[in-house]
Amino acid sequence: MDHDPLASLPDHAVENRRYWNADAANWVASGERNWAQPDPTWGIWGVPERALGLLDGLESGMRAIELGCGTGYVSGWMARRGAVCTGVDLSEAQLATASRLAGEHGVELTLHHGSAEATPYADASFDFAISEYGAAIWCDPHVWLREAHRLLVPGGRLAFLGHHPFATVCTPWDGSPVGETLVRPYFDLHRTDWRHVPVEPGGVEFTLPFEGWFALFREVGFEVLDVREPRPSADDRGQRFFVDAAWARRWPSELAWKVRKAG
Ligand SMILES: C[S@@+](CC[C@H](N)C(=O)[O-])C[C@H]1O[C@@H](n2cnc3c(N)ncnc32)[C@H](O)[C@@H]1O
Repeated sequence: MDHDPLASLPDHAVENRRYWNADAANWVASGERNWAQPDPTWGIWGVPERALGLLDGLESGMRAIELGCGTGYVSGWMARRGAVCTGVDLSEAQLATASRLAGEHGVELTLHHGSAEATPYADASFDFAISEYGAAIWCDPHVWLREAHRLLVPGGRLAFLGHHPFATVCTPWDGSPVGETLVRPYFDLHRTDWRHVPVEPGGVEFTLPFEGWFALFREVGFEVLDVREPRPSADDRGQRFFVDAAWARRWPSELAWKVRKAG
């Protein structure tokens, strides 16, 4: 019998699968909006692709994989640019939305239910990999970056966007929104377990200090092409999830990397 990868998930993935299955209904409306949008905008501040260039290097006909695809709109955007797309996600409820929306938009996607930390695909089977708040924050970077590297052809690009370490360091211990005080130790950043916080408990996330990201890229075999700190526009007065725009105009709340598998 085939080995079932969902039978041997690490504890953070078991929790994140539970969390995302329970929360999936709350992501349907934003998934529908994003699928309906012709041009990509990224992250919680909706920074346009022309400003961020997360799809730089993606060409028509390329095989692209989205690691932690959620409702699948990033894969939809890539498919409309001519890429042949595979979306991987741990939540069957999120994948059900992705599958429905892909069908409604007439976009062909391959959707795989499993963890981005261990996919079933052969070495070098993709030209481009991406994650917007998927594996980028919900998977252990020491594991998923190795997996992304394995999946890419030499010279293949990986782009990913998630929380900035500043935002994690400034998040109070009770899980309430980002404040103006340094709270969590910067140098120890890796795994943040939200299961037992009083404010909106659930999920286990990951990030690293800058030195840690660079060391890991070197160790795994990625060359850094660019690093970006997306900001809200000057007229944005909104609160998004755990951070408000006024905070994020002054300090970085998001971090995006563009890296390339060394050839
Ligand atoms: C916020 S969504 C990302 C999709 C979309 N770009 C967005 O921002 O809404 C996070 C997704 O990561 C998925 N996820 C969490 N852990 C995962 C893992 N180990 N492997 C694959 N997907 C995972 C969740 O199921 C969820 O659908």
